[in-house]
Amino acid sequence: MIRMTVNGRDIELQDRPGLRLLDALRDDLGLMGAKEGCGIGECGACTVLLNGRAVNSCLVLLAQCEGAQVETVESTDATLAVLREAFLQEGAVQCGFCTPGMLMSALALLRANPAPDRDDVIEALEGNLCRCTGYVQIIDAVLAAAGEISR
Ligand code: FES
Ligand code: FES
Repeated sequence: MIRMTVNGRDIELQDRPGLRLLDALRDDLGLMGAKEGCGIGECGACTVLLNGRAVNSCLVLLAQCEGAQVETVESTDATLAVLREAFLQEGAVQCGFCTPGMLMSALALLRANPAPDRDDVIEALEGNLCRCTGYVQIIDAVLAAAGEISR
C-alpha cells in the first residue's frame, strides 16, 4: 500500500507493478483532470504538484509517492481558483486538453513567485504544450491572476 495525501485528503492506494501516478489519480481515484497527452514527459498535460513541485505524472511511479503531498487541478486551493477564473476571463481555454497542466504549472510559479513578469511565466510554462496555440491568452491569464492575487 502507498500512503499519501491528494488535495489534502489522506489516501491509501494499492500499488501495482509499473503503476504511474497519472493512472493512480485517474483510474483509482477518479481524478480525471490530469490528462495523458504523450505519456513520455514532453507535453505537460499530466502535470500535477508533488510536494509542491510541478511534475509530469506520466513519469512518476506511484511507488515513488509514499508519504508525498500530491495536488491536482481538482484542488480547492484559493490561488488555483483565481487562476481558473483568469483563464476563463482571458479566453485561455480552447479545447481544454492542456489546461489542467497549464494551471498546475502556473500554480507552482505563483507560489514561488507571486509577482512574475512575462518571461517568468513563459519559462514556467515551457514544459506545457498547447496544440490550440493559445499561448498569448494563457500567459495573459497567469499574469492577470498574479495581479488579482497581489491586490
Ligand atoms: Fe505526461 Fe505528456 S502525458 S508529459
Ligand atoms: Fe487545446 Fe491547449 S487549449 S491544447
